Amino acid sequence: MTKGSQSHFLSNWNAELMSQILNIETPDGAGLTAEAPTPNGKRIYIETYGCQMNVSDTELMEGVLRRDGYVRALEPETADVILLNTCAIRDHAEARVLGRLSQLSYYKTKRPDMLLGVTGCMAKHLSEKLLDKLPYVDMVLGPDSYRRMGDIIREAADEPALDVRLDRDEDYLGMDPLRTEGTNAWITIMRGCDKFCTFCIVPYVRGRERSVGAEEIVRQAEQAAEEGFRQVTLLGQTVNSYRDGDTDFSDLLMALARVEGVRRIRFTSPHPSDFDQKFIDTMAAEPKICKYLHLPVQSGSDRVLAEMKRNYTVSDYLSLVERVRLAMPSIRLSTDVIVGFPGESADDFDETMKLVERVGFDFAFLFKYSEREGTAAHRQLADTVTEEEKAERLQAVIALQNRVSEAVNQEQIGKIEQVLVQGDARKGDGMAVGKTDGFKTVVFPRGNAVTNQFTDVRITGATMRTLSGEVVAVEQA
Ligand code: SAH
Ligand code: SF4
Ligand code: F3S
Repeated sequence: MTKGSQSHFLSNWNAELMSQILNIETPDGAGLTAEAPTPNGKRIYIETYGCQMNVSDTELMEGVLRRDGYVRALEPETADVILLNTCAIRDHAEARVLGRLSQLSYYKTKRPDMLLGVTGCMAKHLSEKLLDKLPYVDMVLGPDSYRRMGDIIREAADEPALDVRLDRDEDYLGMDPLRTEGTNAWITIMRGCDKFCTFCIVPYVRGRERSVGAEEIVRQAEQAAEEGFRQVTLLGQTVNSYRDGDTDFSDLLMALARVEGVRRIRFTSPHPSDFDQKFIDTMAAEPKICKYLHLPVQSGSDRVLAEMKRNYTVSDYLSLVERVRLAMPSIRLSTDVIVGFPGESADDFDETMKLVERVGFDFAFLFKYSEREGTAAHRQLADTVTEEEKAERLQAVIALQNRVSEAVNQEQIGKIEQVLVQGDARKGDGMAVGKTDGFKTVVFPRGNAVTNQFTDVRITGATMRTLSGEVVAVEQA
């Protein structure tokens, strides 16, 4: 992973760096007991790795377990059940979890009844191998098993439990999440993926593409708004292929825009080959839809894009960028790039550099290709690019993107941006942090700005990662 270079971007699919520990409730675990009529006295601790889909799934699991009477432990030491909700996207993501599992197994020496489990994409990817190789793992649950997790935990107390079946009919209905973030509510609108990009493990670990019913999504947004969330972020691997009967993604966005209390609508990720003009026009016309697109490009070489099975060419991608910029001049863009895909030549890589320079993304997640067992690339293509070449290319594209990000951010100086205040900035020196409509992070002296409210901020400074500014007007509550 691009250590040091990207760690500040809390973003879309930044698998390893999005690791979060969602143990932020009150010390007595009140959050998890709130709706549990009969607490069972057991404490649960979940660590989340991977993308927002996993962050959202952890909230879902916590919702399921709360109804089963669990309370949340603040530390693994005090938990009866520890779960790692994992990612399988790159080898490094899995290696981290293996290391963490071995670390956590230490608590079993002190509390032999404590149960240790693996959930999520790596659970599906490695399945019984995890139980065979790691004697301290008590249960392995794939992404479609969460509804049954109360029972599975009970079974695991007697013998190791495995449930990694993918279930086309699992619609996640009625599994309401326990939301933990202050300003944003994640809403999963589709699961799985049918694209089968040749490098990618997701279709194998998350199963076939399924859209959640539009009514259910609107219900969740209404509930989130009632709970005080100002922003919803719709999640799916290719959100713009969403479909529920006659309702397409644009219709869904418009239905959500009508929900009172929802002020900002975000989504991630749209796939470049699934755009239609209706979607672009809807985005442009509806002020609640944030003017930001994460548009993973992966490579700037047509040959590599074809080998990846991405279903677009460089010129398709560039004309899409042109169309969205024409329709929405303020649009901010980010992307994902993989370097060192099998057969990527120095010329192919040059094409990627040219594309990155030409588009001028606000930021990018830059990855070294990691071969995943079971994918088409693993079966059919030799991992030809050496580790040194991959590392060199990664460094080169990071350096370029850093330069581009800095230049793009400098251009924001002088603008007035509407910022949704997320809370105190990390340093805690009276500074607040929030996001612009275009998903840029802004740090500013808090003044009378209130968390979870909108504040107009004049941008006065910029680095490649963050904007700084000063409050010009605070929203009246
Ligand atoms: N569905 C999203 C991507 C989800 S995976 C999309 O298609 O837009 C997030 C990112 O991880 C991908 O965009 C890709 O850049 C990266 N990725 C996926 N598989 C990878 C692999 N085997 N090696 C390196 N990076 C990978
Ligand atoms: Fe993976 Fe491609 Fe599906 Fe994205 S669209 S999840 S990269 S297979
Ligand atoms: Fe997300 Fe990683 Fe799974 S990126 S969908 S948690 S493989």
